[in-house]
Amino acid sequence: MVLVGDDHKVEIPPLQGYRTGPARLLGLRLIHTHLHGEPLTRDDFTDLAHLRLDLVCQVEVRRGGAPGGLQAAYLLPSNPQGKQWEVVEVEAPTRLSLDPLKLAGALEDEFARILSSREVTGKGERALLVGVYPPGADRARRSMDELRELARSSGLQVLDEVVQFRPHPDPRFVLGKGKVEELVIQSKQLGAEILLFDRNLTPTQLRNLSHLTDQKIIDRTQLILDIFAQHAHSRDGKIQVELAQLKYLLPRLVGKNPALSRLRGGIGLRGPGETKLEVDRRRVRDRIARLERELKQVQTSRRARRSGRKRSGLPIISIVGYTNAGKSTLLNALTKSNVRVEDKLFATLDPASRRLRFPRERDVILTDTVGFIRDLPPDLVSAFRSTLEELEDADLLLHVADVSNPDVEEQIRAVEAILAEMGLGDLPTLLVLNKIDRVPQEIVDDLKMRYRALAISALKGEGLEILSEKIQGVLFHRKESTFSLAEVRSENEETIPPRDVSSTWPGKKADVAGGR
Ligand code: GTP
Repeated sequence: MVLVGDDHKVEIPPLQGYRTGPARLLGLRLIHTHLHGEPLTRDDFTDLAHLRLDLVCQVEVRRGGAPGGLQAAYLLPSNPQGKQWEVVEVEAPTRLSLDPLKLAGALEDEFARILSSREVTGKGERALLVGVYPPGADRARRSMDELRELARSSGLQVLDEVVQFRPHPDPRFVLGKGKVEELVIQSKQLGAEILLFDRNLTPTQLRNLSHLTDQKIIDRTQLILDIFAQHAHSRDGKIQVELAQLKYLLPRLVGKNPALSRLRGGIGLRGPGETKLEVDRRRVRDRIARLERELKQVQTSRRARRSGRKRSGLPIISIVGYTNAGKSTLLNALTKSNVRVEDKLFATLDPASRRLRFPRERDVILTDTVGFIRDLPPDLVSAFRSTLEELEDADLLLHVADVSNPDVEEQIRAVEAILAEMGLGDLPTLLVLNKIDRVPQEIVDDLKMRYRALAISALKGEGLEILSEKIQGVLFHRKESTFSLAEVRSENEETIPPRDVSSTWPGKKADVAGGR
């Protein structure tokens, strides 16, 4: 292929039909002339990385047209020095001893090796996290940490993160354009398929960014919706989440938006129940109208369904709390540490439920819920609540809070407020302060006393016996059907009885009991 340009630039046409894939090079070498003896330019390196060219070369053109020096560059696999490419220089094109085919083959082998070694450590699409914050924002770290946790919850594999401080996000590209180009190169070198932004992107930003890269671009709202989509089990939960997803997509579907036509599946396009979201504008409108009608019908028959769901007759314990509080870890700790647990999914329940057996054949169902999230975009509130709808069936709530998080008290209040708003404030609730292994005893003691809570480390298995007894006390020993939050809390204040836990929690250390 010969392209002719002027002394400023050569336009590269769309390169359809060439090879693609994170471990592949394009199978194309770009050899061009520079008229004024200038070295490879920033644009040359950008093309090399964006297009994943095998090689980019510039040949100097001397006066009279004779070839001069040559510079060639090729991409490098990710390396500790953070070097993105290698440049080779020779005095004349005939001196170049590189074998480009061998070189491309060796590089592809290395890309593939790095990718597959990553795949061992985690499944799911590979993402690079991107945050933009005003200078000095101390929330930046916490916000990025939360994004990382959310990404993990939705099943993404996080490769790395890039943070830029600037007074305002760029209205066109979020970050400065130059920074975005660097970011794209870096993320491709890492093998990222997704750029995940810790903020919401306007339709314009989404479109502009997608012109700079062929990677998927996902923002915070889409990520949260994806998590909800995976956690919505009830029919109206599913409808609400899909409605929220479609309403978010609609304004972004204007014209031909490459960012969306590129979403082939997986995150960003996963509806509740793994259905694929529609990206055709007219059909999205129809679907929204249909879902809204269906939602009305479903809500009127809600009672019937609820009684159906409780048919198993077993008490239901739901674990609630902020994202990353340790809900899933607790679910696992409770089920695994009890040898009599049926550690397989309970067929009639959603995937986040397990059956747990207490002594004397007392079975309960333990269910995990989607985590609460800071700064939930207002549009998502009803979708979020709908994922929590099944809490209405719970006989007991375990409210797990991460005691090692500096915002723990704020988080406890936020969770309680939402539960109260949903009319669930009167459900029996045990407040469980988790991760006590990460903070000094005094802090735990103080919070435990002020909140009348239980203290555990789900990870280390500390405090689980007391929790187990408390659960049994609430579910099996009290006759009253309802406890208020305050009542349960005052229960927690009672001195813990001398314990013989061997029958309940085999293999546990006795010294844990008096613990925290
Ligand atoms: P979401 O699914 O995002 O809502 O999170 P979650 O509340 O289910 O939290 P998860 O159980 O996934 O735990 C989050 C992180 O906290 C994981 O890295 C756990 O290993 C860690 N973790 C959980 N419990 C403890 C604990 O008792 N001590 C310590 N040190 N870490 C813990």
